[in-house]
Amino acid sequence: MKKIALEPTTILHPHPVLLVGTYGSDGKPNLMNAAWGGICCSEPPCVAVSLREATLTYHNILHSKSFTIGIPSRKYLEAADYVGIVSGRDHDKFKETGLTPLKSEKVNAPLAAELPFSLECRLFQHHKLGLHTIFIGEILGILADEDVLSQKGLPDIEKTHAILYGGFGNSHYFAVGEKLGAAFSVGKNLNPVRSVTSEPRAERK
Ligand SMILES: Cc1cc2nc3c(=O)[nH]c(=O)nc-3n(C[C@H](O)[C@H](O)[C@H](O)COP(=O)(O)O)c2cc1C
Repeated sequence: MKKIALEPTTILHPHPVLLVGTYGSDGKPNLMNAAWGGICCSEPPCVAVSLREATLTYHNILHSKSFTIGIPSRKYLEAADYVGIVSGRDHDKFKETGLTPLKSEKVNAPLAAELPFSLECRLFQHHKLGLHTIFIGEILGILADEDVLSQKGLPDIEKTHAILYGGFGNSHYFAVGEKLGAAFSVGKNLNPVRSVTSEPRAERK
């Protein structure tokens, strides 16, 4: 297959669709769509989102030192997109999407009650990279709907109906697709060595 060299740009799909919940200095709850983010540390458990200073959320996090990350199910696709189109500076996004702000009991930030689960984070670190600043939140709590939990008591990707974002090249939303195989397991087909880890917690390394 012939390889084509492309100009460097921010393409690395798929992205998760994350809804960042914050309070403004006036106590107004706000929600924004952030696709540039993900889990970034296991001990302490941390999640990162990269935000532009132009967003209200950027300033809200610096003020409250807290944020939540909600995972929208496909049912809330329009709401998820909407909170990524307008700013909380001139919109009440909870009101306009019909989502219900619920105060986190762990951190000073709101979450949207209708979303299947949300991470409650305290601002751990932030670093200005350039146009974007990466905000790293320590996950102090998780609020989840009972009906999306697996037998292990954790949010299950096959039940949350999470949305993916294609990003540059194909800026559409996608559903999570078919299950392909067991992680930490199918790779062993290549070499049935005994030393490979089979611990799911190997991800924590
Ligand atoms: C799919 C999607 C993904 C987005 N991802 C990001 C992101 O990762 N970082 C960012 O700064 N803005 C991102 N945005 C844009 C913000 O959500 C948008 O600027 C929003 O109006 C900011 O809201 P706020 O001013 O109320 O904080 C995204 C928008 C969409 C629709």
